Order: sequence, then C-alpha cells, then structure tokens
Amino acid sequence: MIKLLNTIDFDSIDSTSTYIKNNYKTLKDFTFVSASYQESGRGRMGRCWESSKGENLLFSLLLKDEELINKYSCVSILSGTVILSVLKNIYRIDNVKIKWPNDVYINDKKACGILLEGVSVSKKIECVIVGIGINVNQKEFLNSNATSISLELKKDIDLNKFKLEIYENLLQELEKLKNNNSDYLSIIRENNYLKEKEVYANINGERVLSKVIDINSDNSIKIIREGKEYNLYSDEITFHN
Ligand code: BTN
Repeated sequence: MIKLLNTIDFDSIDSTSTYIKNNYKTLKDFTFVSASYQESGRGRMGRCWESSKGENLLFSLLLKDEELINKYSCVSILSGTVILSVLKNIYRIDNVKIKWPNDVYINDKKACGILLEGVSVSKKIECVIVGIGINVNQKEFLNSNATSISLELKKDIDLNKFKLEIYENLLQELEKLKNNNSDYLSIIRENNYLKEKEVYANINGERVLSKVIDINSDNSIKIIREGKEYNLYSDEITFHN
C-alpha cells in the first residue's frame, strides 16, 4: 500500500517539477512537492504555466518505482482521470472531460494541465515527474480558454482539503495501476473531449486533418482519415481548435 508520507510545501519556487528534477536522488519515492507560487512554471511543449499566487494547486509527484516508470504512458492518462474523478464525484462538477492525453476540461475550457517528464541517465529512466497545475480559486485568466473550479462552482473551495483529496486519490489509483488495473481507460473513453472532433495529425510526416475515434488500450489515440484508421502517440498529434 502506497502511503501519503512525504510532502514538501514551498511558498514560492521556480517550479515544483524543476525542484524534483534537481533533487530526485535524495528525495523519497512518492514525494509530493507543492508551491503557492511558481516563478517559472513550465507547461507542455516548452510553454510557461502561469498561476496567480495562493489560489491554485501546483504540485509535482516523484515516481521512482520501476513498475510505474515502465507504465509511463498509463500514468500520464491516469493522472488526468484522477483529477476528473475528484471534480465529478466529490465536487459534483458536470461536463468534465479529458482532452487526450491528460488535459482536464470543464465546459469546454481548460482547468488542469499535466506535464510528465522522465529523468534518464545512460538511457535508463531513473524517475518520472508528474507535474500538475489545477486552476482552483483563480477567477481571472489572460487566456480566454481557461477556467477554474471556483468559476464553475461559483464559490471558492478549501485548497488544503482539495490538495489532500487529489494526493490520496492519485496514490490510490497508482497502487491499482501497479496491480494491473486499467479502470482509467474506461474513464477517459467515457469522458473523451476529443471524441468525433477534428485534429491535425502527423501521418507519414504530413500534418493532416483527421477525426478522433477512440483511445486504444496501449494509451494511443485512434483517428480516421479518408476511411483509413491510424493509432497515434502524443508527439504525433497537434490539436485543431
Ligand atoms: C500543460 O502545459 O498543460 C502542463 C502544465 C503543467 C503545470 C504544472 S504546475 C506544477 C508543475 N510544475 C511546473 O513547472 N509545471 C507543472
């Protein structure tokens, strides 16, 4: 049983994921590092992750467990499904979806972003860092495509209580994944934001418009173009809004 034992909270830091990257050797497996504010929060594809001070949940989880490292792509999708389940089952928020692989959307706007990184030495992955940013009580965003829990519920929620719920659920689901449970796949399939939507996909080096059909058991996405089906992995797809 994985237990919630190791947590580190910063008032301000460059990035919780960078902190783990620089200290993973001395940190224990399943350490959660959170911060009220990040000076250089990082997003996917080299983007920045902006978040106002003290209003949101910003944390990274260190995974050194070899079984979970080998299930990297499952961990990626599972992390989004854990956030979705907490939002739906505890906070009773409707219309929560996952934009594959792991962005969480509420009413067509992004409420959570997840950045998975691996640290490797001589081609061996030594750890995986799951960095998660959830918009909780922030009400104003520069990006019109962003939302928060508070905007959707029309009230603020207790950030510390929410943090604990997310940590505990994440550990519980990672434990299930270690035992080969794949419930996370049915959750993303049932709440697939991209289902039947058009996306740009790289097929044989060409960026072409295609339609999403489903998520496969190996965590790739199934798309169709001109009657032909393709299975793509996250670096082969960009989204068409
Ligand atoms: C995305 O681009 O959607 C992923 C955003 C991930 C942001 C989180 S916030 C906590 C952790 N620390 C970082 O610097 N990034 C991740």
